[in-house]
Amino acid sequence: MSRKIHIFDTTLRDGEQVPGAKLNKRQKIEIAEQLAKLNVDIIEAGFPCSSPGDLQAVKAISQQVKGPVIAALARAVQEDIDIAWEAVREAERPRIHVFIGSSDIHLQKKLRTDRESALEMAVEAVKYARRLCDEIEFSTEDGSRTDFEFLCRIIEAAINAGAGVINVPDTVGYALPEEFGHLIHRIREAVPSIDRAVLSVHCHNDLGLAVANSIAAIRNGADQVECTINGIGERAGNASLEEIVMVLKTRFANYQATTAINTTEIYRTSRMVSRIMNIPVQPNKAIVGSNAFSHSSGIHQDGVLKDRTTYEIMTPETLGIKQHTIVLTARSGRAALKHRLGDLGFSLDADVFERVYNRFIDVADRKKEVGAQDLQSIVEIEVSKAPETYKMHSLQIMSGSKIVPLASVTLERNGQLLTDAATGNGPVDAVFNVIERITGVSGKLRDYDLKAVTMGRDALGEAMVRVQIGDTIYSGIGTSPDVIEASARAYLNAYNRYFANGGAETIKS
Ligand code: KIV
Ligand code: ZN
Repeated sequence: MSRKIHIFDTTLRDGEQVPGAKLNKRQKIEIAEQLAKLNVDIIEAGFPCSSPGDLQAVKAISQQVKGPVIAALARAVQEDIDIAWEAVREAERPRIHVFIGSSDIHLQKKLRTDRESALEMAVEAVKYARRLCDEIEFSTEDGSRTDFEFLCRIIEAAINAGAGVINVPDTVGYALPEEFGHLIHRIREAVPSIDRAVLSVHCHNDLGLAVANSIAAIRNGADQVECTINGIGERAGNASLEEIVMVLKTRFANYQATTAINTTEIYRTSRMVSRIMNIPVQPNKAIVGSNAFSHSSGIHQDGVLKDRTTYEIMTPETLGIKQHTIVLTARSGRAALKHRLGDLGFSLDADVFERVYNRFIDVADRKKEVGAQDLQSIVEIEVSKAPETYKMHSLQIMSGSKIVPLASVTLERNGQLLTDAATGNGPVDAVFNVIERITGVSGKLRDYDLKAVTMGRDALGEAMVRVQIGDTIYSGIGTSPDVIEASARAYLNAYNRYFANGGAETIKS
């Protein structure tokens, strides 16, 4: 008999804590809708007391996204719980997730309190939350470093106060798989009321063990795992949803545990989260990395051509990675593009389709063939674009080994063309300097990543940047067969996000 493991996705809460990955309401709803298609059991939509914007986003998700339970995080204080309830009360199935630090380090150094007071606070908070909402989850933050006897006492007290889900986090990613598995086993043995609750784990990846720890916990009786798409999250991230799900599916005989995840939506969800949060997926990332199903050595290629199972333990199709042979060119019209987008699962509003078509023609003019991944990248960028205060019109570069790089850029603002030029330490730096000159806003480049979307010399380049303007980091993404142009588009995209957020510009006369 197999057990069902509940998948609790915290991409929109723990994942969103990554610097520069802050999402607006529209972006959070888009990801939440996709998580519902992926069929996660619970979406932790945010931490509503952290900002009025997050409260509004969680509220909108609760109103619009049907299927999964919608959870909101709250510290063990009434004010947080009230705001969390305000955010999720309209959900089909709302959940309030209350947490408090339980290790002596957290109690003494962070909360400046003692075990008894923390236990009292936890009980009061769970009771208060339970009066508002039927489903309460209680987390013992830093659970893996908490004194075992106290951990059991606080869990028992929280269940008796009304918590239906008990979550034991390895907050700092310190646990080892055999140790963490044993901890879950001991909690099952020692907490009298544990069978009245769903037992959950939440593992961080500081030692690269988040997935291994989650799997060890499942083996030892955990019913729910908390995880994120692409493993994004605080510091080294959280346990990766796609890895946990595919371990359980691929090695079913070992764990006899299933999830409700629709695995054919995994790849699309991974791409969407990467694109909207501007966090690239490393090429060798298990399950969803661009190299996960590519075979480079001759012996491997030979084996896969004879029989895929020689070197593949899962099929790309299981994850929704489609192998397409038909490609579009500059001669393909709107009808062909629409048809191909339909094949890829995109149905776009007329105005977005028109933007995608224009970018497609622009790319196809410079690239012989436009493949599925090129199209996916173009669509994802156009769909998630911030309103464009400035549009890229054209750019020219003079660069070489013995000259100072010079860039000239023309941007369009309200139908007016603005041109300027600047030098830089390299062509990319020169282009960024011009954008700063034209907008009159200076930023600090915090992160820059450039990758080819497809193989081949004419591959579409995808640039991702993180730019600090004032105290805030804005991320941007851009594509083009020309990598300097892709970088310029990404930088401009970050600036447009800044302006969309109310940032001021210095308009030159
Ligand atoms: O890592 C952690 O302990 C958390 C809790 C709030 C669940 O994110
Ligand atoms: Zn966490």
